[in-house]
Amino acid sequence: MSEHVHKLIENRWSPRAFAGKGIEKEKIKQLFLAASYAPSCFNEQPWRFIYGTKDYPERYEQLLSCLVEFNQMWVKTAPMIILALSAKNFARNKKENTYARYDLGLAIGNMSLQATSMGLYVHQMAGFSPDKAREIFEVPGNYDIVSMLAVGYLGDPLQLPESLQELESSERDRKELNTLLFDGDWSVLE
Ligand SMILES: Cc1cc2nc3c(=O)[nH]c(=O)nc-3n(C[C@H](O)[C@H](O)[C@H](O)COP(=O)(O)O)c2cc1C
Repeated sequence: MSEHVHKLIENRWSPRAFAGKGIEKEKIKQLFLAASYAPSCFNEQPWRFIYGTKDYPERYEQLLSCLVEFNQMWVKTAPMIILALSAKNFARNKKENTYARYDLGLAIGNMSLQATSMGLYVHQMAGFSPDKAREIFEVPGNYDIVSMLAVGYLGDPLQLPESLQELESSERDRKELNTLLFDGDWSVLE
């Protein structure tokens, strides 16, 4: 990867092998504080989180059960699982907040970099059942259930099923900048 981006950005990645070590309470608080410092449309701060750690197995198992089998297979070693939601409407005027998911992504971006700064890793997931999560946690209809996150310290890749071990050490794969930056010719971006 480029040597020209900040170390925190360069060092963030999404592992699947997590160590058994739990996350210190103070660090859990710092993760959510970092998320809460993100910018948001009209400063509505539409992000909401439900989290579970292995210290509270009932909540943890509820969260784990929302994931698809593939994700459960590796997430079960992570000490913390988070469900990320966003408020559908602006609190100020009850109109639809079409930027809520965007804002949630910014908050999770902050959380991920805060995690990296503390030696922790965040792995975001779309592979879960929002319907199941809505039912289990009785999520009201005015919240979107957007993503799930596994958080923890890095574990030994050898603890993973063989099929996943290789992914753990594979090269970062990123598009070239010239395929992202519009310069008058849309065909270049396809
Ligand atoms: C919204 C979102 C959904 C994702 N869903 C999954 C998932 O269900 N399972 C999984 O193993 N990884 C998932 N990922 C992780 C991506 O595959 C990963 O971020 C991407 O390959 C880039 O790798 P990096 O984060 O290590 O740089 C997801 C990432 C994001 C941001």
